[in-house]
Amino acid sequence: MFKEYQPTNEAGSDVHGKVSRTDMLAPWTYRSEELTVLELEALFLSDWLLAGHASEIPNSGDYTTFNIGGERAVLIRDEAGRIGAFHNVCRHRGSRVVSADRGHCRRTMVCPFHGWTYHLDGRLKQIPSPGTFDQLEIASNGLIPVELEVWHGFLFIRFRPGGQSLAARLAAVEEKVAHYRLSELRPLGSRRVVELPYNWKLIHDVDNEGYHVPSAHPSLHSLYGKDYRDSLMGDVPISTARVDEDVSSFWSVDHYKKLLPSFDHLPQSEQRVWFYFAVFPNLVFVLYPEMVEFYMTVPVSAGKSLMIGQCFGLQDDRRETRAARYLNQRINEQTAREDENLVLWLQESFATSVYPRDNLSTLEFGVPYFHRQLKMKLPVLGLEMAPRADHLSALTQKMLNGA
Ligand code: FES
Ligand SMILES: [Fe+2]
Repeated sequence: MFKEYQPTNEAGSDVHGKVSRTDMLAPWTYRSEELTVLELEALFLSDWLLAGHASEIPNSGDYTTFNIGGERAVLIRDEAGRIGAFHNVCRHRGSRVVSADRGHCRRTMVCPFHGWTYHLDGRLKQIPSPGTFDQLEIASNGLIPVELEVWHGFLFIRFRPGGQSLAARLAAVEEKVAHYRLSELRPLGSRRVVELPYNWKLIHDVDNEGYHVPSAHPSLHSLYGKDYRDSLMGDVPISTARVDEDVSSFWSVDHYKKLLPSFDHLPQSEQRVWFYFAVFPNLVFVLYPEMVEFYMTVPVSAGKSLMIGQCFGLQDDRRETRAARYLNQRINEQTAREDENLVLWLQESFATSVYPRDNLSTLEFGVPYFHRQLKMKLPVLGLEMAPRADHLSALTQKMLNGA
């Protein structure tokens, strides 16, 4: 049976209440298309979403985009070097204003449909045949802004503005991340986007606990299994893993351990640590000594998700650093392959009549903790049986209003 577990923060104080098996979501929550639409609205569009890093758009006119749940945003650097985020929706009739995922606009953004032209800071500059419009005001028809917060160089957007800043949300890890000089990072290669045949929550359910590492990820276990720990820093779920110096039978792991150099920007305590922290609902940052990585999920439908990831690094041309980055990716690719079947089999178990939810280790507290966070934001997720699809939306409103 599941032992109730009191997650502690780094200081060891019990501030989060117990998590228990009753926090675990019911199987229907992974299969409902109607629920996925609600999740997109309540969990994704109303929360901070990582859209990129400032270093990906270094020059004025450079832009990147981020689309989710029907919304689409463009993040662009203006002539003064400031980054702005806007709905990528032309104020005329709604065309995309920039058409590529990433690119560069020379001085202005020109809508490909009828040629409305916007300054790089989003203001409408001019339109063709202005005399054919009845009282169209140029000044009030700029692109509509999307809320933007730049957190250590990472660009976060929130489609439904308002609420806690990301800096406040992540205050507990601030001191820890300060060493990593995140705002100076540069991309190491391009973004990886893979479509996976799973519900987005399942990917986190497998990822959110380290109990499976010794059996499912032997190479990762031989990298840091002796000193791995999941916990909370404030409200932020974290994992810390110290790379040991033992000989490993896995080629990539053994060479990584031997070649990993030391890094002047890190204190001694972080020299051989892999530090993971989660940003609810869909994002994980991993701070390695030699680079930084993020991965996140984006729901496509109830049974399909995008997994998006990218690596960044500080300028460091040492051969050992390049080797460590390469070996790190080999280890992580192997780990991802090993997780694929686990997620699939977990998903399959929801369709059986005997899906188990009672037997959880305290080492798996990250799973019910995630589920409890989900239910706090979207209470219908706590229902044991699927409500009628046409009741879901009204029921959500009722529950959010406390009725
Ligand atoms: S829709 Fe953009 S100019 Fe017409
Ligand atoms: Fe895993």
